[in-house]
Order: sequence, then C-alpha cells, then structure tokens
Amino acid sequence: MQDEIQEIEAAALAAIKSARDEQELDGARVAFLGKKGRLTGASAGMKNLSKEDKPVIGQLLNAARSAITAALDAKRAGLQDAADRAALAGLDLTLPGRPAHPGGLHPLTRLRDRAVQICRRLGFALAEGPEIETEFHCFDALNTPPEHPARNEKDTFYFDSGKLLRTHTSTVQIRTMEGEAPPVRIIAPGSAYRRDEIDATHLSVFNQLEGLYVDTDVNVGDLKGTLEFFYRALFGEDTEVRFRPHFFPFTEPSFEIDIKLHVKGQAPKWIEVAGCGMVDPAVFESICASRGDDAYHPDKVTGFAFGMGLDRLAMIQWGIRDIRLLIENDARFLRQFA
Ligand code: DAH
Repeated sequence: MQDEIQEIEAAALAAIKSARDEQELDGARVAFLGKKGRLTGASAGMKNLSKEDKPVIGQLLNAARSAITAALDAKRAGLQDAADRAALAGLDLTLPGRPAHPGGLHPLTRLRDRAVQICRRLGFALAEGPEIETEFHCFDALNTPPEHPARNEKDTFYFDSGKLLRTHTSTVQIRTMEGEAPPVRIIAPGSAYRRDEIDATHLSVFNQLEGLYVDTDVNVGDLKGTLEFFYRALFGEDTEVRFRPHFFPFTEPSFEIDIKLHVKGQAPKWIEVAGCGMVDPAVFESICASRGDDAYHPDKVTGFAFGMGLDRLAMIQWGIRDIRLLIENDARFLRQFA
C-alpha cells in the first residue's frame, strides 16, 4: 500500500504541474482528493489493515494529502499571477495619467455661502420669499408710495396680473414679519430684477442679501456694529467701512455703506456696497394692519434692515471688472475659481 500511496502522490503532483488553467487544476483536485478521487479511495482501504499497519499508513496518507493540497494552492497562485500579468501586458505604466477635471463652485455661490455663514454666526436665520411678488409686498408695505420712481413701468417687470418680478429682496422682510412675531433675526439671499440697461456694472437679474433684525431696543449702534463686523469678516480685519446718510422709504434714518477699495496702481476709493437703516415706524404700522395685531407696534419694537448686492461683493472680492462675466459661463473665467 505504501507504494500505491507514493504512486498516487507522484501522479497527482504531475497532473497539478501540467494543469494549464484553473479548470484543469480543479479537474486534478477532483481526480485525487474528490469524493471518488484516488487518494480518497486509498484511504477507504485502511479498514482492512492490521492494527500495527494502520498508524503508519494513516500517516503516509495524511502526508500525501498535505503535499497535494500545498501543490494545488501554489499552482493556483501561480496561475492567478500569470493571468494578472497577461491583463497588464501592453499597458505602458510610464504614460502620463489622464487629468481629472473636478468641478468648482461659481464665484457668486462661494461668496453667498460665506456671507450667509458670517451672518449665521451672528444668529441670523435663513428666510425666503417668492420672486414673483405683489405690489403690496414690494412697495406699499415698504412705505413706497405709488408715485415712487421704483414703481415706474420703465424700471420694473410687471405681469398682466399686476404682479411683478421683485425689484429687491426687501419683500422678504414683510413676508417674515407677517408670519412671525418678534423677535426676528433673518437674512434672505436671492435674485432681484430691474429693467436696467445691461453694462459692466448692471444686470437685469442680480443677487441681493437682505437682513432684518427686530426686537425691543435695537439701535443704530447694533446696526453699525453688525455690518462692520460682517464686512471685516468678509474682506479682512482692516477693511474700512463708512456709513453715509441716505434715503430709503422703508428706513429712518437710512444709510448707504461704502467700503474703501484698494486696487494696485490706483488711488484707493470708496465704493457703495449696501443700503441700510432703522425700520421706519410706517412699515411696522403696515405690518400690524396686515397681521391684525399689535405685535410690531412701533412703540414696542425697533429694528434694523440692510440690503446688499452680492454680485458687487464678488466683484470686490476678486477684482472682477465686468459684472457680465458672472453670467456668461465662460469656462476660462470660471476655472480660476474652481
Ligand atoms: N432694497 C434696497 C435696494 O434694493 C436696499 C436696502 C436699503 C435694503 C435699505 C434694506 C434697507 O433693507 O434697509 O436698493
């Protein structure tokens, strides 16, 4: 029986060696180690052996099984290696890689996100309103009388229904106060529309960031501190900010905000970036009338509001000279921000 085992082992190792692929290798495994395989058959003969022979032959059988199994494993790994090498044949690993083109955020999106983040740190929550608005929300409720030039058909996109594309995001102030009792502290980024001639600094669709803070005892100091903090957080600690008296129908007093722009090779100049002011009592009265309560009675609450042009801020941030670049989608321009 010893000879038989040796002969089986040698035959198995030879079959494994000559196997050309996984399938032939598996055939060899089944032929020798399978249920009806030769070594399995030889093991069945153990029961006829004498007590003395059993352990000796048992050991031989085990050794043969281990040797065949090891040879199978080694051959399988070898075949896999060869298959891997064949798959890579002809592949030039020294060729330069194909560059990936990751997308990037539009500069306006980047600027808006940063502006929103700064305001959120100050406790402002996001609010929104429709872009197709009523004259009431766009003008009347904001103390803007019918004869005001902003309401002129030449300056505004009206629909036949009498609604219009909002000319500013200040509409969201009204919608917020109609729906929520004070205190409110909101910002509303969004589009605004005007029938403007399009040139290097004007688009007929542009982007604003509106803000409103109403509570008891809100004062001009709060307004100034908040907006100075905002512009310094956005443009850097030494940004110079100036509040210039102005007029808006919905705030009293009102200011325009300028920041000092430094461009290499040019004298520094002040440029206007926002309008703001203390909410006019007439606006609070109008809100009380629409709500049918006196939650916003001008004797009880005060507030400040501001509205800034986001396109303008992006132009300042990156020294963009023509606002039209922001909507032309020229990849050569946009790639610089990716
Ligand atoms: N709505 C104004 C505009 O579009 C900007 C503005 C000025 C908004 C003063 C305000 C504000 O909230 O208080 O020109």
